[in-house]
Amino acid sequence: MNLNIGVIKGDGIGPEIVAEAMKVLDQAGEVYGFTCSYEQLLMGGASIDVHGVPLTDETVAKAKECSAVLMGSIGGDAKTSPWYQLEPSKRPEAGLLRIRKELNLFANLRPAVLYEELAAACPLKEEITKGGFDLLIMRELTGGLYFGERGTVEENGVLTAHDTLTYNEEEIRRIAVRAFDIAMKRRKNVVSVDKANVLDSSRLWRKVVEEVAKDYPQVTLTHMLVDNCAMQLVRDPKQFDVILTENMFGDILSDEASMVTGSIGMLASASLNETKFGLYEPSGGSAPDIAGKGIANPIATILSAAMMLRYSFDQDKAADAIEAAVSQVLKEGYRTGDIMSEGCSEVGTEQMGSLICEGIR
Ligand code: IPM
Ligand code: MG
Repeated sequence: MNLNIGVIKGDGIGPEIVAEAMKVLDQAGEVYGFTCSYEQLLMGGASIDVHGVPLTDETVAKAKECSAVLMGSIGGDAKTSPWYQLEPSKRPEAGLLRIRKELNLFANLRPAVLYEELAAACPLKEEITKGGFDLLIMRELTGGLYFGERGTVEENGVLTAHDTLTYNEEEIRRIAVRAFDIAMKRRKNVVSVDKANVLDSSRLWRKVVEEVAKDYPQVTLTHMLVDNCAMQLVRDPKQFDVILTENMFGDILSDEASMVTGSIGMLASASLNETKFGLYEPSGGSAPDIAGKGIANPIATILSAAMMLRYSFDQDKAADAIEAAVSQVLKEGYRTGDIMSEGCSEVGTEQMGSLICEGIR
């Protein structure tokens, strides 16, 4: 079996971390009997440098022909990079938003797991994290503030900007269904996060989520305001199984959730549509400050590749093996700089990838 994978290496640390994920995929293929062919796709700053835009129509078309896309990260340093001299719609991030929309990737799954071995890298007190935690953020990815009407105008010499937060009930229903479906395979608990004490879009969100919940009597649903959720994530992350939320809240809460696992370099993500197609990317950014140094943590990208094998290719055994290899390597005390703690051995990006490959053999 050959897996037809699009690869967006992107900017900053993207090429380095993606190279390790490809290495791990090839290794898993050798053991579990598949091959991977990779179609390189340009997006973000890498595309601006060649085509002047962060994503071309041809790249979108090529991505649609692949069965899944693995991505590194896009963007650069907003202060120094010439990409940020361009108007907002031509900057690297615009490419990412466009591909999410074009491929209708409305369901963004961001699992945050505290590995016991990384407890020392977690900034929370031991009494809070003892026994670890395992939560999943189901973030709506193609609606809300990110895609609403926006603009900046000057009236009587005063600049005014606006962004609009819109959701219709169908958009809410389809992401809620995803959250409940996945909760059925987990601990059957959904916390839906909104700001229903202020926003109309959140009141509609609550109403629709409650309707969907009726089809899942085994799942416990609670509602939580987003400010409270931000607090609960550091107060008691163990209480969460599936967090269901809209685009912007999910963006913010997922960075917070990643940090309580020890590092943003550990957080994988899958962006899915109604088919088996998915875009898989680490939740972290392009980290231009450490790009090219060979020290970036490739684990989030490697775990994203494992999610790809699971969700797009039904290669569950290979995905399990990759996840187990990551645990094993951490147990053996190997760490990249971002998760380094006393008594462990510090390794670079490439060596971390190779160790995980060895663990799959
Ligand atoms: C993420 C990123 C993106 C987002 C940026 C780069 C547009 O922060 O994937 O979380 O806000 O969705
Ligand atoms: Mg983000």
